[in-house]
Amino acid sequence: MQFFLDTASLADIQRFQSLGLVDGVTTNPALLAKEGQDPLVQLREITSIVSGPVSAEVVETDPERIVRHAAKLAQVADNIVVKIPASMAGLAAAPSLVAQGIKLIVTLNFHATQAVPFIKLGVDYVAVFIGRSEDFGIDNKQVCWDTRAAIDNLASPTQLMAASIRNPDYLIDAIHASADVITVGPACWDKVYNNPLFELAEREFLESWRQLPAELRAEYEQISNDQSVPHSE
Ligand code: E4P
Repeated sequence: MQFFLDTASLADIQRFQSLGLVDGVTTNPALLAKEGQDPLVQLREITSIVSGPVSAEVVETDPERIVRHAAKLAQVADNIVVKIPASMAGLAAAPSLVAQGIKLIVTLNFHATQAVPFIKLGVDYVAVFIGRSEDFGIDNKQVCWDTRAAIDNLASPTQLMAASIRNPDYLIDAIHASADVITVGPACWDKVYNNPLFELAEREFLESWRQLPAELRAEYEQISNDQSVPHSE
């Protein structure tokens, strides 16, 4: 299971790379627009610091234009994976792109049936969206399980990507559904580690620790000052 970072921000990518959470990066038009830079320059910079796949999404809705745009985006760097929509137009464009050897993520799948023809075609990834449905009160976690079953039953090489992961619950749902890739935004990882129960427990442990007389704590605490203690980088 891989974790991609769902962002177009270079600062976020660098921050999460140092935490080991960037097996790849997913961008989309909204994420690129948020950065306020030339999107092609931004993508080149992202691909130069990320060794795994980096996605670039077409902004076309007509099959012929999708094919042309996708082929151009694929030339930005060797690790570009092009996102095309899970629509009839995307389906019309996909065979030619697959034949050209262009790596594809079929995006915006809200129901497994949208993904099925692409899975049969063997595109690289299908991205199923969880959070964006839940925004409207629609419980859509099932899309992960259904799409996993479709991939397995069709014995397809397509990888399941869980996307639109907005909170720790969706992340766990994606793990339960055995997603091959989960793309998680920086804000979601921040929610995972801003857990109030964790913060309370950590504070209580340290407050209790300080009840121990300082002279009894001294040697234990000084261990971290000792530069000779082996540590992993
Ligand atoms: C996935 O590749 C998309 O960029 C992303 O997960 C979209 O999520 P959103 O619903 O938060 O926009």
